[in-house]
Amino acid sequence: MLSKKLEKALNTQIQIEAESSQIYLSMASWAEVKGLEGVAGFMYGHSDEERMHMLKLVKYVNERGGHAKISQLKAPKIDFGTLPKMFQELYEHEIFVSKSINELVHVTLEEKDYATHNFLQWYVAEQIEEEALARTILDKINLIGNDKGGLYLFDRDIQQLTVESAASDPGV
Ligand code: FEO
Repeated sequence: MLSKKLEKALNTQIQIEAESSQIYLSMASWAEVKGLEGVAGFMYGHSDEERMHMLKLVKYVNERGGHAKISQLKAPKIDFGTLPKMFQELYEHEIFVSKSINELVHVTLEEKDYATHNFLQWYVAEQIEEEALARTILDKINLIGNDKGGLYLFDRDIQQLTVESAASDPGV
């Protein structure tokens, strides 16, 4: 059985993952309208992954005798300015999510809930990967700058990242 404190903290994380999915969906739509099909495809996939992160938490909370609460979400931005700005935002958002997961892990230790501590290790590992991926993309996009040819190749190549991440997706 989850303690009330941990249940509340897990519910906060559910909301954060759901909001992440919305933010990335909005980024996907923005990129699609700009004609960046590869980036849009990547972001649609990333949005799905965040929904999967959320669902995994929902099911865990309910399985452990808590109640996963589905709450209202903050509306994401509609316009992301430029591609470097969008990926900078994505990177910073993943750092924010990592901090939130770390705090959650801290609560499991305070509450001496080692089952949840163990469950959250998947998220700890996932955040390392997501931060690394976001940093790699950001480095590439900053390198390209205003080079249109580079941007064309980037938009084509980022689709491979989608395929790879989809293949390694463990599902719910
Ligand atoms: Fe679910 Fe990208 O953190």
